[in-house]
Amino acid sequence: MSRVGGPARLDVRIEAKSFLGASGETRAALRGIAFTLEAGRVGAILGPSGCGKTTLLRIIAGIEKRFDGSVTRPASGSLAFVFQEPRLLPWRTVEDNVRLAAPAISEDELAALFAALGLGEHRRHFPGELSLGLARRVALARAVAAKPDLLLLDEPLASLDGATASRLIQEIADLVEARPITTMMVTHDTDAAIRLADVIFVLSEGPARLLARIEIPGARGRLTPEAMVDVAARVDAARAGGAKVGVVSPAGPGA
Ligand SMILES: Nc1ncnc2c1ncn2[C@@H]1O[C@H](COP(=O)(O)OP(=O)(O)O)[C@@H](O)[C@H]1O
Ligand SMILES: [Mg+2]
Repeated sequence: MSRVGGPARLDVRIEAKSFLGASGETRAALRGIAFTLEAGRVGAILGPSGCGKTTLLRIIAGIEKRFDGSVTRPASGSLAFVFQEPRLLPWRTVEDNVRLAAPAISEDELAALFAALGLGEHRRHFPGELSLGLARRVALARAVAAKPDLLLLDEPLASLDGATASRLIQEIADLVEARPITTMMVTHDTDAAIRLADVIFVLSEGPARLLARIEIPGARGRLTPEAMVDVAARVDAARAGGAKVGVVSPAGPGA
């Protein structure tokens, strides 16, 4: 991958992000989140429901522009965002949804992508005919087909049953393994984060701040059960520590 003229990594420095409430008051959504994700690595942002994960992902994507801080995306700036809702074009087939995002894709590439995601037999189906799990796979195929420098996934496993989620984790893992794409996934599922990521960013309850950056040892997705338990314990410890620290922000002003 050539990335001429800029950093290949993702660099996030968010001091604060707030929204305007219904009666004009400002409500903090994020505070003190700073991290770097090196090119080709997979990061997982792990945090409880409502803490600000989607907001953080939207800031990383450049969709949400009003915040205090800065975000530097990989040099070419091409990115793909897989929203929690698959957002497919309902009047287009599965295949056409993917082709529209990647007009130059070859038949072989398309076939390989559909095979990797178990979508081969659904190419001619319309989004309305698909389960949520399949629709998410199509959204994922569409995102990857465009060969982005940065892939952003918002809760790719939400509302899927255990077996479907587990299979999708493996498929995402294989996909990013075969095509090294710098990837950031948001989830509230510790197990999924451990199985998919090289590094986990643990967020506090909202307004979210970064509690810990946990490097997962060894090759991605090949942890021993003992190592998985160890990483999960470190996530729990970061959360427990964060709960104790309360409102003190490690990256906040004066820290
Ligand atoms: N556009 C918006 N306007 C006002 N408040 C918002 C907006 N988007 C998100 N929020 C608020 O910010 C907080 C974090 O939301 P979100 O980022 O969606 O959390 P998560 O993805 O972790 O569940 C929530 O309290 C939510 O209500
Ligand atoms: Mg969300």
